[in-house]
Amino acid sequence: MDKKIVYSGIQPSGSLTIGNYIGALKNFIGLQDEYNCLYCIVDMHAITVEQDPKLLRKNTLDVLALYLAEGLDPDKSIIYIQSHVPQHAELGWMLNTIASMGQLQRMTQFKDKSKRSKEVMAGILNYPVLMAADILLYQTSYVPVGEDQRQHVELTRDLAQRFNSKYSDTFTIPDILTPKVGARIRSLQDPESKMSKSDSDENSYILILDDENAIRRKFKRAVTDSLNNFDYNDEQKALKNLINIYVSFTGESVEEVVNRYRGQGYGKFKADLADVVIEGLRPLQTRFKEIRSDKEYLEKIYTEGAEKASYLANKTLRKVYKKIGFIAK
Ligand code: TYM
Repeated sequence: MDKKIVYSGIQPSGSLTIGNYIGALKNFIGLQDEYNCLYCIVDMHAITVEQDPKLLRKNTLDVLALYLAEGLDPDKSIIYIQSHVPQHAELGWMLNTIASMGQLQRMTQFKDKSKRSKEVMAGILNYPVLMAADILLYQTSYVPVGEDQRQHVELTRDLAQRFNSKYSDTFTIPDILTPKVGARIRSLQDPESKMSKSDSDENSYILILDDENAIRRKFKRAVTDSLNNFDYNDEQKALKNLINIYVSFTGESVEEVVNRYRGQGYGKFKADLADVVIEGLRPLQTRFKEIRSDKEYLEKIYTEGAEKASYLANKTLRKVYKKIGFIAK
């Protein structure tokens, strides 16, 4: 029997944080042997907020190089850039005709983003429909993402079910795959909000490509609490977040870490955490530098990836067009 499909994507909208790493990227690698995986750089999603064209080009190749540096293998997985496969936009349009405005307006990310902008563009509202198209084009079974994407995956399931019951079985209904620990890494300055590359305070996040000094400084400044009690609970959200980062990098259990640091001040733990993250990111950073400078290699990967993805995407799209009643050419 054919292997099941795994699909995920990351926006090239700025440098990636360790939230992106722990919640998504790091988990992509282990899925490559058991599943047929597609990993996309979703540039069409990125333009739903203001982008500088030059930076967008740079960031797109940065994400591609990070995928490869982390260990995504182009012989096992399809790695490509979303705008190279126009079927995403085509299926997105079809799905827009069965997505209700009310449902889209209820998406928390839409509500957050539209609150922050003066003029709300339609692309922000339709963003999750394009994400549904990404996933459904490939008959995806599993979507490895962070917790913040749960609502979007639920919408995807809903749209797939709606289409299937209107026109007969067409799409596989996907399931979300989130890591047990680290599905929602929080800001180092405000544990009520998620760690995000769009945060205006750079002390709130660690970037995958941050250097040693920046990582040490940011962890040192990370907020904790005044209880000075080393424990893992919801009253100590900031500390809990730091422990989640620690165990995500070392693979230890929370219990092991809590037992090691219990009775000590937070300072020692934060310094050790910085070391763990620096060492954890080092191989990735080194490989990134090598790969990123090889433009020809990157071009080869994204060109071949787009060809393979297009082939699969077309299969689904042809089915969809036929069921809708479009005349085949
Ligand atoms: P994006 O680009 O915002 O984030 C990429 C991935 O990183 C995860 N993530 C986090 N995980 C834990 N803690 C955090 N603080 C944190 N911040 C980000 C996200 O959950 C995501 O998995 N809509 C998607 C991109 C997308 C997509 C798709 C994903 C487009 N099409 C199809 C899967 C399948 C997004 O904006 O991710």
